[in-house]
Amino acid sequence: MVDAVRQNTGVDGVEGGVGLTALMVAAARAIETHRHDSLAQDVFAEHFVLAAPASAGWPVRMQQVPDGDANPLWGRFARYFGLRTRVLDDFLLRSVHEGCARQVVLLGAGLDSRAFRLDWPPGCVVFEVDREGVLAFKREVLGGTSATPKAARVAIPVDLRADWVGALTDAGFDPTAPSVWLAEGLLFYLPAAAETYLIDTVDRLSAGGSALAFEVKLEKDLLEYRDSPLYTSTRHQLGIDLLKLFDGEPRPDSAGDLANKGWSTSVHTPFDFTHQHGRGPLPERNDALAGNRWVFAGKPQP
Ligand SMILES: C[S@@+](CC[C@H](N)C(=O)[O-])C[C@H]1O[C@@H](n2cnc3c(N)ncnc32)[C@H](O)[C@@H]1O
Repeated sequence: MVDAVRQNTGVDGVEGGVGLTALMVAAARAIETHRHDSLAQDVFAEHFVLAAPASAGWPVRMQQVPDGDANPLWGRFARYFGLRTRVLDDFLLRSVHEGCARQVVLLGAGLDSRAFRLDWPPGCVVFEVDREGVLAFKREVLGGTSATPKAARVAIPVDLRADWVGALTDAGFDPTAPSVWLAEGLLFYLPAAAETYLIDTVDRLSAGGSALAFEVKLEKDLLEYRDSPLYTSTRHQLGIDLLKLFDGEPRPDSAGDLANKGWSTSVHTPFDFTHQHGRGPLPERNDALAGNRWVFAGKPQP
């Protein structure tokens, strides 16, 4: 795995490579925040977009998009991220308020501001894991606002393609206490071996009563949707070629692996939640979202 890291000499911050996708999601959340029927509110999101030279000229509200909701990127795809944010906000809050976990680990946290936005119970710690350049940009931007975390917050700069357990436990994570984990918009950027390692590690570090949510893409051949409106518009409007950033290896069956380890799992399409909330993206022809699944898993008490 270390070899894989060395081979990847790509950009470490938000100005390019996979880090730029964190800015894309932040722009989506900014737009969602200003919708009259918003699914999630993130007042910090637009600060990131406005601060980064790489996102100069990107919209932070729908009124700035000439074709509005008809735009496949800022209409449909951005709404997708709005829905995802809401569903995973609900998952995290449910896990800490109804369960006994007080440790929250955001893997590939990017510009996620949940530590600042959500109402965490007393004693909660939020660990944010991402690459150093992304977390440095986040620190710099939030430092220029009045943002105050609503839980203890620990940033952990580490590459998830390497062995990241020591970084997490050195930062105070306690594997004997229950935890809640999130890998939102992350796994398809990682080599298959790093995904397997991540799932094995979460299992190993999770006490009974812990929970995990993650997103996967089930397509056998991602290139099947190369000409979809979503990938095309992301490439043309932002210069982000998602298909080049996604790892092309066959994916492990992470939901199945967790079930084999004794976790309870449920697998949903995003569209399930569109129906539940009465708004959000719906399936369409040549749909790059067709294979996306949101997986929710719980480790039973011993
Ligand atoms: C699409 S963004 C999602 C960010 C955040 N989870 C959200 O939904 O707003 C993907 C994030 O994964 C991070 N990431 C990708 N590969 C990584 C790696 N090998 N190690 C650590 N972070 C990684 C990127 O830096 C980026 O912040």
